[in-house]
Amino acid sequence: MAKIAQEVVRNAGVDVDELLKKLVRAASAEFTTYYYYTILRVNAIGFEGEGLKEIIEDARLEDRNHFEALIPRIYELGGEIPRDIRAFADDAACPDAYLPANPKDMKEMLMVLVEAERCAIRVYTEICNMTFGKDHRTYELSLAILNEEIEHEAWFSEYLGDGPSGHFRRGTPGESPYTSRFMVVPNGHHR
Ligand SMILES: [Fe+2]
Ligand SMILES: [Fe+2]
Repeated sequence: MAKIAQEVVRNAGVDVDELLKKLVRAASAEFTTYYYYTILRVNAIGFEGEGLKEIIEDARLEDRNHFEALIPRIYELGGEIPRDIRAFADDAACPDAYLPANPKDMKEMLMVLVEAERCAIRVYTEICNMTFGKDHRTYELSLAILNEEIEHEAWFSEYLGDGPSGHFRRGTPGESPYTSRFMVVPNGHHR
């Protein structure tokens, strides 16, 4: 990897090792959330759950996109993800989004969802603050992800009575309006 990409970030005053730790922990939180949201979506059923299903799916697929978008930057900066997925999952920046003990309790499920999104907002705000004006590429990527996390949080907190968010659901599931331009598909085009 061209060391210049790392050098300019270091010279701008960013602790690259610290930044890499944060990026790997963020990527792990995306990957594990993608997993746990699968279980939450499957269980969002019935009169109370069905309305949540679609936004859980949007948030789930976008978290997978966030994982995909973070990986190239981790390697560009000279980092890597752990060889063993267990070590990776144990280092997640956010707690496991477990299905509530009573899976029919949609209020409990919403609390799990909203807390996961709030954690993600804090994670990317921190990375933005750390890279602003210094590591432009990581900053722009983290800001794109942050924009989507803020929307995810708002979708769920609307159900908890926090008032209207002003957004509508995605046009296609997991569209990632902000992050998709960071993701390159195998034919070399951006999504
Ligand atoms: Fe995410
Ligand atoms: Fe999210």
